[in-house]
Amino acid sequence: MSEQFVSCGLEEILVGEPLPGSLYLYIDFRFITFRAAGDVIDRTAFERLELKKIRTLFMLEKDRKAFTDWSQKTLASAPPPPLPRENQAFSQVRQDAHRKLMDIFQSNHPDRMVEQTLASSKNLVTEVMKFPFAVQTLAQLQTFSRGTVDHSVNVSILSVYLAMQMGYSHALILQHVGMGGLLHDVGKLKVKIDDNDSPEEAARKMQEHPSLGARLLEGQSKIPNEVRMIVEQHHECHDGTGYPKKLRGQHIYDLARIVTIANAFDELVGDGKGTLIERQRRAVRELDENLFKKFDPQKLEKALKILKLGI
Ligand SMILES: [Fe+2]
Ligand SMILES: [Fe+2]
Repeated sequence: MSEQFVSCGLEEILVGEPLPGSLYLYIDFRFITFRAAGDVIDRTAFERLELKKIRTLFMLEKDRKAFTDWSQKTLASAPPPPLPRENQAFSQVRQDAHRKLMDIFQSNHPDRMVEQTLASSKNLVTEVMKFPFAVQTLAQLQTFSRGTVDHSVNVSILSVYLAMQMGYSHALILQHVGMGGLLHDVGKLKVKIDDNDSPEEAARKMQEHPSLGARLLEGQSKIPNEVRMIVEQHHECHDGTGYPKKLRGQHIYDLARIVTIANAFDELVGDGKGTLIERQRRAVRELDENLFKKFDPQKLEKALKILKLGI
């Protein structure tokens, strides 16, 4: 008797957690094993699926229940406290921004679509601006990021929140930060990684994403130049060890320095193990003790103070 396959949406997959059953890809009218039961899909593998615009994998029908139970398993030790009434539209605008970005990542013409994120990004920033004293835990702002789309939404929200707490209050500036955060990794769509590329070659190509992202935004008249600079410079480091231009210190655009911290923080959280709060604590420690040279010292000090209050 032949086995029955059923679909498994990308959103059901927990990154970094052993799979309860095998997952398959459907290629050339055949099901091919992508990962076996017990294997782990890490963030890089998940990101590859996203960038290849694969939205659905397949599993054997007999594993359906195990997968449902597995993907509903919550990694947070406790749900975050609800936000006060005036911030309740936040989760809706967050989902809206997520959807828009997902559309861009699935599109064959992302360049034509980036301007559609403008409104979503503005709404997101407006909601975050209502936050100043409402955030008790970072879990109210940050979710697990499995791939680039989750990560970009997290970075946008965290960047705006950090900027606000650092004293930036002008709505237009916060919108630049929010939009820069949302689009910072959009250049990954233009990176062409071959299945035969070695991991080193793939990593080298991936380093082109800030420049490719900036180029993608160049023809977009509605995207402010500030946003392009954030996109181009979000991997530059204070000590000059970043890329693409090895800019140093004050040569890095002021708002990019905030997004850089939020980006590094969310990446560290995404790579960690354990509950969300455990990962957040570890990420703060890592920034504080090992990576501090890479960031604007004044901004990092403020950011760490703010992040520590939420964990
Ligand atoms: Fe990046
Ligand atoms: Fe990023």
